[in-house]
Amino acid sequence: MKRLLFLVLFITIMPLSGCSSLQVLDPKGPVAKLQENLFQLSTGIMILVFIIVFSMFVVFTWKYRETPERRDITPDYVKGNRKYEIAWTVIPIILLLILAVPTVQGTFSLSDSQEKEDGKMEITVTGHQYWWEFHYSDEGITLSNEVWIPVDTPVVFKLKSDDVIHSFWVPQLGGKKDLNPGGTNPNRLTLHASETGVYEGKCAELCGASHSLMRFKVHAVSKEKYDEWISDKQEDRAPEAAASDSYEKGKKLFTSNCLSCHADGYTEKRDGPNLAGIGRKDYIASVIPNSEANMKKWIKDPKSFKPGAKMPGFNDLTDEELNALANYLSNLK
Ligand code: CUA
Repeated sequence: MKRLLFLVLFITIMPLSGCSSLQVLDPKGPVAKLQENLFQLSTGIMILVFIIVFSMFVVFTWKYRETPERRDITPDYVKGNRKYEIAWTVIPIILLLILAVPTVQGTFSLSDSQEKEDGKMEITVTGHQYWWEFHYSDEGITLSNEVWIPVDTPVVFKLKSDDVIHSFWVPQLGGKKDLNPGGTNPNRLTLHASETGVYEGKCAELCGASHSLMRFKVHAVSKEKYDEWISDKQEDRAPEAAASDSYEKGKKLFTSNCLSCHADGYTEKRDGPNLAGIGRKDYIASVIPNSEANMKKWIKDPKSFKPGAKMPGFNDLTDEELNALANYLSNLK
């Protein structure tokens, strides 16, 4: 009954919990597929057990209900029944074995090496309150709240945290695994996309006021497109459509105000989120739809969108300055 209650709660609460964009039961890679198979197996067994037990409960309740004729009957005293006792001991053992064998097998097949493995692509993920940093050490590229990976390639994510414990989860590709602060031995998690697409990722460990807003996107692209994308970002070209007065003014403002925390090029790394590419993203800080108007609102008061965010609000900027800054940022592609 407890299990059923959990299942009913899970099914009803999940879509309401703000996770509606997360496709938990739509795997797009072998790791997530294996996890989904295990989930379906255990759910199937639970439903089977529930149906049998609940049907027996209903049948017996009806069959042996109190009727006027039976009112004065005292039932026989029954002491033990070897056949039934063996049955209700052996059946759960069999069911648990059916669950345990693939679970243990899966756990071993998914267990990740704690050391860097030769020939495997590795990306370092650092969790921050409340954003994600992805660093490609071989390529020298840093991204925030998005990561690009090639399809049909196992990618090892090396998981670290800058502050508290976070957890890395991309439901359609697999997970989750914790990002621990201060560790000398970071966790590693291998994920593998077998179809191109954009997959939602999320922090799965309560980490503070904006835990639920700690989202990221995984872009799985063909190997050719991946190589092209990476070398493009390594070149870190200045935006093409630039050079308006407003843009130049925004660039100056960025350099004097924002550059101490934020980089504006893919090959740079700072303490705050790297803003390279912010102009082509759907969301600002993965919480508000991207537009110059929202960019200005965010700069003025980021905490109203992401409570607990470390960035201070810049309320003293004039409208002209805000426009210039928003113009510069939206040109960072
Ligand atoms: Cu980070 Cu929850």
